[in-house]
Amino acid sequence: MHIDIISVVPGLLEGPFSHSILKRAEEKGLATVRVHNLRDYATGKQKQVDDYAYGGGAGMVMMIEPISLCIETLQKERTYDEIIYMTPDGETFDQPMANALSMNQNLLILCGHYKGVDERIRQRYITKEISIGDFVLSGGELAAAVVADAIIRLIPGVLNDETSALTDSFQDYLLAPPVYTRPAEWQGMEVPEVLLSGHEAKINEWRFEASVRRTRERRPDLFAKSGLGESDKKSNKK
Ligand code: ADE
Repeated sequence: MHIDIISVVPGLLEGPFSHSILKRAEEKGLATVRVHNLRDYATGKQKQVDDYAYGGGAGMVMMIEPISLCIETLQKERTYDEIIYMTPDGETFDQPMANALSMNQNLLILCGHYKGVDERIRQRYITKEISIGDFVLSGGELAAAVVADAIIRLIPGVLNDETSALTDSFQDYLLAPPVYTRPAEWQGMEVPEVLLSGHEAKINEWRFEASVRRTRERRPDLFAKSGLGESDKKSNKK
């Protein structure tokens, strides 16, 4: 997979992709991320990328021309499966969306700044608008990093133990069960006996029930989507 990100503060995206899992994904040739500085596509002397909003009011608007030039330049090299705009008024990002996006070959992500981009950019180029939650960040960069991280770790081969993405919270609309490591007893607190038993079927059953319990208690909204009613509570037929 290849992800291009367009930003007016590319420095904000230098860190996330040069560490840990994302760095390994790049080294293994499974995912590449390139950040493009929008200012490099500004045509005026001042390298201007924003302008006053028509109709007045506080806040600047990202201009059409640099974004259009940048997108069309990148499109000469690649055909994008999605051109994504990060914005608080987009569709809320979740695990099913991450799963779907991880199937793509080429993604282009445009980070909003100031009051956002001229509406005509959205109409002309954008195929998907994503919000990472009901709060406003100072720009789309951190949101783009969140989305790219969630997608890249799902690409087969990126995680060492491929099954580990399948047991994440939110797969199947369930939160993940609690996890433990050594020591088996710490300050009088013990690891649940079944996890020490080596009995795989019983361990899976315990984990499933713990997932269900945790999801019902903490995220009844998610539990409702899981399709698990009272009667399914004790079975693990996945
Ligand atoms: N830009 C600013 N806030 C954002 C959010 N919550 N999600 C995506 N992009 C954003």
